[in-house]
This record gives sequence, C-alpha cells and structure tokens, in this order.
Amino acid sequence: MHKIIIDTDPGIDDAQAIAFAIAHPKIDLLGLSTVFGNADIDNTSRNALKLLEIFARPDIPVVKGASKPLVQKRLPAPDFVHGVDGLGNLNLDKPTINVANERAADFIVRMANEQPGEITVVAVGPLTNIALAVGQDPTLASKLKQLIVMGGTVQQAGNVSPLAEANFLGDPHAADIVCAHDWPLKIIGLDVTLEVMLSDEHLACLRDNAGQTGKLIWDSSRFYVDFYTADQNQAGVESPVRQCAMHDASAVVCVVEESAFEFISGGARVIPEGMAIGQLALNQKASSGIEYAVPHWQSRPLVQAAMRVDADRVRNTFLNTLINHALS
Ligand code: RIB
Ligand code: CA
Repeated sequence: MHKIIIDTDPGIDDAQAIAFAIAHPKIDLLGLSTVFGNADIDNTSRNALKLLEIFARPDIPVVKGASKPLVQKRLPAPDFVHGVDGLGNLNLDKPTINVANERAADFIVRMANEQPGEITVVAVGPLTNIALAVGQDPTLASKLKQLIVMGGTVQQAGNVSPLAEANFLGDPHAADIVCAHDWPLKIIGLDVTLEVMLSDEHLACLRDNAGQTGKLIWDSSRFYVDFYTADQNQAGVESPVRQCAMHDASAVVCVVEESAFEFISGGARVIPEGMAIGQLALNQKASSGIEYAVPHWQSRPLVQAAMRVDADRVRNTFLNTLINHALS
C-alpha cells in the first residue's frame, strides 16, 4: 500500500489526480494539503473539501497551506484555464466539511516524523508548502519515502513562458529550495504530461461509467477542454482536437506505475528571477561528476526528471482505475 499526501491547488486536473488517488486500491490517501495557484488559497481549500465530499471521502483531512509565494508577488490565478472558482466555473455548493486545525507544512512534517520512510508526497501545485516544511524540519528529505512533483520542463516549451511551467513559475524560490534537498525526488514535467491527453471521448467514458466522480471530472473539464481547443485555434491548428493534458494525475499514476516513465538524472536549479524566471535548469553532467566553472549547480543532489512516458499506459491506468472503483 502506498501512503501518500497530495499537495494541491485544485484545479481541474488536480481533481483528476485526487480522484485517482482515492480510487486506486494500492493508494492510501492520508491527506490533502492546499496551496495557492490555480485559484487563491481559500478557493483551492474549498475545492479540496468539496471534491472529497463528491468523491465520497469526507474523512480525508484537508490542511490549508500557503496563500502566496515565499518571495515574489503572487501571480494572478489562471482563471482563463481553471475558471474563477478553480473548477471550471461549476460554482458548486459550499462544502459541509472544514479544513483541519493544522497548517499544511506542520502536517507534512508531523506525518513524516510519525511514519519515517513510509510516506510519498505528490506535489501538484507551487512548491511553497514543501519548501516551508523542509525549512521547519531540515531532515524532512530523509524521512519521506519519496517526493514526486508535477512541475517544470526540460526540453518541452513552457506553458507560462517559453521556458517556465506554471507550478515552478508560481513560486520559483520554493522550487529551487526543494531541489537543493536530497530527497528521492522525481519531477514529472511538461516533457511527459503533455503526452498524456484526455479527449472528450475519454472524459465522456468517465462521465458515463465512473459514477459521481466521473460526472464531476466531465463537468469540470468542459472549461478546461475549451481552453485547450481555443489554444489550438490560436496556434492555427487546422482541426483542433477537443482534449486536455492530464498533468497532475500523471504524477499520481507514477506512484503505482513508475516503469511507465523514463527518467534522466541531474542537479536541478530553478531560476528565481529575470527573464528565465521559473525555468528548470538541469545539470545533466552531474551524474558523471563533471563540475562546471560556475558554482550554481555545485553540491546539488541528483533529481530524476521524466523525459519519456508510455502515455497510453498512464491514461488507461487512470481511466480503468476510476471505472473499476465505481463498479466496486
Ligand atoms: O502546469 C500545469 C500545472 O499547473 C498543473 O498542476 C495545473 O493544475 C497547474 O497547477
Ligand atoms: Ca495543480
């Protein structure tokens, strides 16, 4: 059984990730820690609570986290991608459950110390909570089983700038701090998540076969698919495909299907400011012990960055898990 905590900014694709974690028989979702990102912290926390109600797991604790980045000003929420409410403008009723009386970073540190070596944290939003947690307990990296991060991009173009992916640009200082610690850290970036696309056909299959969860995923994905379709139209694509990228759920699938991904290793920096702000800069020579003249990558621990993925396997694992869970 994989015990996991998801650090999340729900978020339409975050909802898919949370649904998958709840549905998979080998995942024990210990809690959700919320962070600003796709919406403000109050919205992402409310959405996390509402999703757990809809997914019939109101017992899972939600701990509220950071409302803004460590250093820079918070960027405007991408309401043109996730809607003003963060869930595709579904404007769902308020949840009847509340956040736990514990801060996100405190929860992560406490759980890691209570169950050393057993918990995987999957971070699918800006890494502010993770940076705060390792600031509180500098030994945290040695106490997690692993840290899997949806974020960054090595070769694929960025989605918020030509170089930067949204989660890393959301708090570049936090991302750079996280990359300075010696976890087992896997980075599931745009290089692979943009390969794992959910079409309207895939999403309709969930709508029709995955119960209330499937309906929420379909309903919330309308706004998201419209954005991806408009993006293709803007890029002059002849016949745009109605689909969306399964960014966050791909990171959770990696917990149980790691061999569907191929990784390279290197020392990672995240550029904290300037034109390249938020860029993941990987020193791929680090594993061969070659040191550059500039000091910026010296003594950076190795991270694993996913560069290739069996997209069909990841997508089918996601779809089949949700459908089988609904049938059980
Ligand atoms: O770049 C994609 C990431 O940014 C996903 O986690 C999405 O939910 C947004 O947070
Ligand atoms: Ca997210």
